[in-house]
Amino acid sequence: MTFDSLDSTNAALKRIVELEGDVHEGLMVWAATQTAGRGRQGRVWTSPRGNVYVSILVAAPPEIARAPEIGFVAAVAVQEAIFELPRHNAAEPKVSCKWPNDILINGEKVCGILPELATDDSKRSWVVLGIGINLQAVELNPSAYPPTALSLHGVDTTPAHVLTVLTRSLHKWLHHWREQGFAAIRKQWTGCGPAVGSTVAVGLPEGAVTGDFVGLDEDGALLLDTRKGKRRIVAGDVLFGATPDSPAGETVGD
Ligand code: BTN
Repeated sequence: MTFDSLDSTNAALKRIVELEGDVHEGLMVWAATQTAGRGRQGRVWTSPRGNVYVSILVAAPPEIARAPEIGFVAAVAVQEAIFELPRHNAAEPKVSCKWPNDILINGEKVCGILPELATDDSKRSWVVLGIGINLQAVELNPSAYPPTALSLHGVDTTPAHVLTVLTRSLHKWLHHWREQGFAAIRKQWTGCGPAVGSTVAVGLPEGAVTGDFVGLDEDGALLLDTRKGKRRIVAGDVLFGATPDSPAGETVGD
């Protein structure tokens, strides 16, 4: 479904799931601009025209605690899609994954991902996968990272073309995830994530936590070696809030 303007593609797709029912995986809401675009942790996602604002419906796994894995599936799909877009300059940009679900180019944020849970009237759970990619317009969304746009890195494209490439890549990585489990996604994410031992800072409600990157745990949790000892930051809590399966004691935000 294509719209010129919406409050938020995530909000619109959630409404469709919760109020209209009869939905299916792959259902997509795309808007040219958003008036109330939302980011993680209640932040605003400013949404000028020229960029991609899309929400795609993905069936949640039977173990709902595994739903945050879909955010990582999306991150590796976006990372791969960016490489497949035509570029008119020779220099290959360094596209990297930032925990939990951001994509950076040369250290600047080009894409934010917001997975949200929704339940239809048959009590079936879905993940509304919201993806914002800067193509042309760069707006300073509240984030520790300065923003960038694909056009600044020689990528000349349109939202429609990005969506074609992205949905193909997402379909492929969802298939790998379902066939091979999170290990396949974790391997790909780790390949474009921070180097082991590099310093990683995560903004949390309690303040920033900085440590040496140890790795991504088997459920997507961030493992850091901080001055106060080892720290495990749970992706599920950051993306969806604490669930009975992810104890709130470990809860921290990004
Ligand atoms: C973040 O980095 O905080 C996540 C940003 C997610 C933005 C996208 S744009 C499309 C979808 N609709 C929204 O309201 N938000 C997401």
